[in-house]
Amino acid sequence: MQPGLRYLPGHLGTDEQRLLVEALRTAVAEAPLFIPVMPRTGRPFTVRMTNLGPLGWVSDRAGYRYQPSHPETGRPWPAIPDRLLALWRAVSGYPHDPEACLVNFYNGGAKMGLHRDADEEDLAAPVLSVSLGDTAVFRMGGPERGGRTETLKLASGDVLVMGGSSRLCYHGIDRVLPGTSTLLKDGGRINLTLRRVTRP
Ligand code: SIN
Ligand code: FE2
Repeated sequence: MQPGLRYLPGHLGTDEQRLLVEALRTAVAEAPLFIPVMPRTGRPFTVRMTNLGPLGWVSDRAGYRYQPSHPETGRPWPAIPDRLLALWRAVSGYPHDPEACLVNFYNGGAKMGLHRDADEEDLAAPVLSVSLGDTAVFRMGGPERGGRTETLKLASGDVLVMGGSSRLCYHGIDRVLPGTSTLLKDGGRINLTLRRVTRP
């Protein structure tokens, strides 16, 4: 594993996972999932997304960026639930709160190509990832595209902290394994990534 990568399998118990899903349902009712498109090509992502917090990550023909409002409703993103802020404070090892929580929803054949999270100004803070629902095959590489990669199965309740030199490593989701969790009644997977965006 990359130095600075911390894998906390089963960090969230079932009750905590259920409470998180409930909080997410409320947030998604206010800030609906949308289908982002790739810069330039306009090709749609296979995941659906929304955000929580003062800033949200979006991708459209103009590029990738953080913005304070939902691209379709124009309303501010809902707040990051307290239980996620508590998780960040407990495991991030970073003294300032996150500003963005990207919510990715995978169903059907949704996946995510190898990429780096590099749109943040503050790269000293880790990216904290929470997996809910069906298990995903997560692929992690090094700092350069095309390097050696390895896979890790991320199950519901698993937490991954991408800090240190893993912060800018390539990663993605090869696929989600249907029927591996009963947390979400219609199946699929939710991934939350908490990020600090600006320098405090
Ligand atoms: C991401 O890199 O934005 C998502 C990773 C994941 O779904 O686990
Ligand atoms: Fe990412």
